[in-house]
Amino acid sequence: MSDLWSVETSSLAADGEAIMRNGNIYQIANGYMGYRGTLDEYGRSELVAITLAGVFDRVGEAWREPVNAPNGGYTRIAVDGQTVGALEVPVSAHHQALSLRNAVFERKTAFALDGKTVTIASQRFLSAAEPHLGVIRYSISSDHDADIVVETGIDGDIWDLNGPHLPRLDAKMYGDTLVIAGMTNELGKCVAVAESATIPFGQQHHKVDGNRNLRVVSFKAEAGKTYTFWKYFAVCTAFEEAGLTAPEAAIAAVHEAKAQGFDVCLAAHNAVWADKWAQCDVIIEGDDETQHALRYSIFQLLIVAPVDGSRNSIPARALSGQVYKGAVFWDTEMFMFPFFLHTCPQKAAELLRYRIRTLDGARRKALTEGAGYRGAFYAWESQETGDDACTYFNIGDPLTKRELRTHFRDKQVHISGDVAIAMWEYFKLTGDDCILLEGGAEVILECARFYYSYAYFKKEKNRYEILDVIGPDEYHERVNNNAFTNMVVRATFEIASQTAFYLAETHPEAFKALVQKIAIAQELPLFAEAARLLYVPEPNPTDGLIEQFDGYFNLRNVPVEELKSQRIHPDEYLGAGQGLAVPTQVIKQADVVMMLSLFRERYPTAVKRVNWEYYEPRTEHGSSLSACAYAMVAAEFGNLDFAYKYFLKTARLDLDAKYKIYVGTVFMGGSHPAANGGAWMTAVFGFGGVSAGADQVTISPRLYKSWRSLKFKLAYKGDSFDITITHDSVAVTAAPSNRQTRRFCVWGRDESCVPGKRILIDRAEKVA
Ligand code: BGC
Repeated sequence: MSDLWSVETSSLAADGEAIMRNGNIYQIANGYMGYRGTLDEYGRSELVAITLAGVFDRVGEAWREPVNAPNGGYTRIAVDGQTVGALEVPVSAHHQALSLRNAVFERKTAFALDGKTVTIASQRFLSAAEPHLGVIRYSISSDHDADIVVETGIDGDIWDLNGPHLPRLDAKMYGDTLVIAGMTNELGKCVAVAESATIPFGQQHHKVDGNRNLRVVSFKAEAGKTYTFWKYFAVCTAFEEAGLTAPEAAIAAVHEAKAQGFDVCLAAHNAVWADKWAQCDVIIEGDDETQHALRYSIFQLLIVAPVDGSRNSIPARALSGQVYKGAVFWDTEMFMFPFFLHTCPQKAAELLRYRIRTLDGARRKALTEGAGYRGAFYAWESQETGDDACTYFNIGDPLTKRELRTHFRDKQVHISGDVAIAMWEYFKLTGDDCILLEGGAEVILECARFYYSYAYFKKEKNRYEILDVIGPDEYHERVNNNAFTNMVVRATFEIASQTAFYLAETHPEAFKALVQKIAIAQELPLFAEAARLLYVPEPNPTDGLIEQFDGYFNLRNVPVEELKSQRIHPDEYLGAGQGLAVPTQVIKQADVVMMLSLFRERYPTAVKRVNWEYYEPRTEHGSSLSACAYAMVAAEFGNLDFAYKYFLKTARLDLDAKYKIYVGTVFMGGSHPAANGGAWMTAVFGFGGVSAGADQVTISPRLYKSWRSLKFKLAYKGDSFDITITHDSVAVTAAPSNRQTRRFCVWGRDESCVPGKRILIDRAEKVA
């Protein structure tokens, strides 16, 4: 592998599917917006999109989805009257690369044009320092004299799945700045893109061509000379609170950037990226392939981390487009949040603030779903208000084209507990109660309240049960006592009681106000009792197996491949009413094993092994969330080869981009930040054996055989540690700025780590 800090290719994706996959692989983003990895001259048919975080719109009865902004990065050239583009004229050489160091995408393409070779090269980034801003450097050279016309500006003809979201675009030029603005269809809010350029050659004029607002630059290129210009574009919306209108704000942003120039903008951007990597990189020595894939996974998380103060979260397909309605799922709390919590907790806090902000949506859902419940039932697919974007008929059958009733929205109740657990983890690991006080405690109590109203008390057994749910395995709907769900519910009741206790002790006034605000005084004592009396399927005393839900073991045991061979259509969905997997033990994704991974402290290794061995052959891994759970649990009980195989599968998912792009009739071609988070968790929790708790950090390493060392930074209780793990030793270095001595338990040995000091624990001295 030549460079562990970049992704590159010299082959040009020519067909639609390859262009779509490359658009995901080479995307750049800055938390505010994502720009698919398409070429400068591409348009709607090549799925160009600048997807905005947290800005949604609906057209007619179609799904609400995030809005794509007009493409301020558009440039196309014509040479001697012939339009030039990678898909239109012969390409003699092409190279494109994405730098993982600073999220700069570049391409260089040489075109063979009637005996002339014309080369274009461009570099682009979405500023990590100024979230509204995109910056591009574009160069042209020809080996013969040529008449060249450049059209550069904003292309309003953009890709949408269920658009158009900005139906009437208004193209204007203010001085030398181009602007395209439009109103969203549903809420009538303005989205504006401004573009300005520094072009030190040629004659310019302005042109509006359909939905394109362009500057046209004509010049005679001398053979061998390079002509470079710089473009600055900004996206602003009326969804943000600001004194200026969206077009005014966008114009101001590009003027400022243009005045600074490309190099200054890039330097500011690079400085932010240097900080990100200083906090978040994981270094694996001895295994370049894994290092590269893991770094790419971390990169994917870093580009979509929400902008501070935006109170946005990360959608299940990140900012790679409109797939999955741009919605936030449990993926965020269960698979991405741990990475942020352990590396840059300020971003973890942003993710939680999003759930606090959308609490009312969760309350509305609880009241209106099914028989009506109390408390907070978070959206399965959450957009900006927290109301559920998930439809009751969420998948179509590819054969009949009929919509299938799915119960993801109304029965996947574990979502609320996933949110509550994340709230509590933040407090536990940062020691900072700001999130609890900002509304996190309210979220936790409302989630417990929801579960209390959902739970069924079975008198004859003197226990609470959780009936009629979907666990993580979406192929089995409306099941009773799903082990994972029940465990999440129990944890939520426990956390709610702990939250109440903590607040009553440390912030009595705030606690009193909260109890009054949500009138929960009567219910609080019930949560502790519910935690105690809640039934959670236990390991069977004879073989240690945990039944995924009531009656699972009675289902037909069919090998996964055999089941799949029975499909009539390759995209046929295996779940919902008549799905092939429904009467069988074939599961979509880690479920019991997900529980063993999430609650790893609560189960002994032998139980993990036996359940892993039972469920793995029955798992289709039809979700990108599955492999990492199996990898982490395998690492715990010592099947490192398997753990490694599934670790790579997770870490390479978005790099290889070979994932399925249709489920039923639903287009799924986007990136997978949950898998990216799963890759980080497998490295640090799985192979690194790190488990941070309220009182100490435990490290029980299980390094893979080909690795020499594993190094990473850990944020814990507001302090920072450098961890280096080898096969023989663990070194923990506390940053000099740390505020307190912290406790570590390495290979069973208790150690204290003093600010500014390093401790080195030798494996040979490990306590048996
Ligand atoms: C999985 C869910 C997941 C969703 C979004 C589905 O295929 O089954 O667990 O939340 O995708 O990634």
